[in-house]
Amino acid sequence: MTQDEMKRKVAEAALEYVVKGSIVGVGTGSTANMFIDALATMKDDIRGTVASSEATAKRLAGHGIPVLDLNDALKQVASLSVYIDGADEFDTGKNLTKGGGGALTREKIVAAASDKFICIVDETKRVKHLGAFPLPIEVIPMARELVMGIAAGLGGKPVVREGFITDNGNIIIDVHGLVITDARALEDSLNSVPGVVTNGIFSHQGADVVLMGTPNGVETIH
Ligand code: A5P
Repeated sequence: MTQDEMKRKVAEAALEYVVKGSIVGVGTGSTANMFIDALATMKDDIRGTVASSEATAKRLAGHGIPVLDLNDALKQVASLSVYIDGADEFDTGKNLTKGGGGALTREKIVAAASDKFICIVDETKRVKHLGAFPLPIEVIPMARELVMGIAAGLGGKPVVREGFITDNGNIIIDVHGLVITDARALEDSLNSVPGVVTNGIFSHQGADVVLMGTPNGVETIH
């Protein structure tokens, strides 16, 4: 089975977690795109969606799936029923690294507004410790050198993502070479640096359930 076939299987398996009549949070990336395509088959069963990026909003709208602004949605309901998204890595504690596509901030916001986070990945994303995938940090441009210096002080190699501006008008610094043994502590400490909008560690907003595609089918990790 190819990696894309494994992604498609988990994307389809995630439909089981979609609560009928509710507003669903939708992630960003190639696996999330496959979920959007699958969600189109039950678009009349949900009240709408909240998108974690402009790209996701466009794909949802292309299928005729209603997309709501998060603030409007939260005036109608106390929370979104579920957030469904991929990840760049997940560890044994279901902490995630996200932001390979640069949508980490909106992804974290929509995840925080949702009752449950179902993470859809293929088995290549499983790691013992986060850090093999470069850690993305969304930064207000003025703080670039400040954050680069702090990331280098942590033992990482920070690299500005060339030619990339986030949906929020900021830059991304990818930090290579970190071995993250305490995901929660690093998430908190990087987020306390002035100019950091957020970083790609999802420990506070880690997955509730990981659906992992393998050559033998979909494994559910609680
Ligand atoms: C987008 O910013 C990311 O957080 C994605 O969720 C992550 O990069 C996974 O993407 P793929 O499903 O394309 O691997």
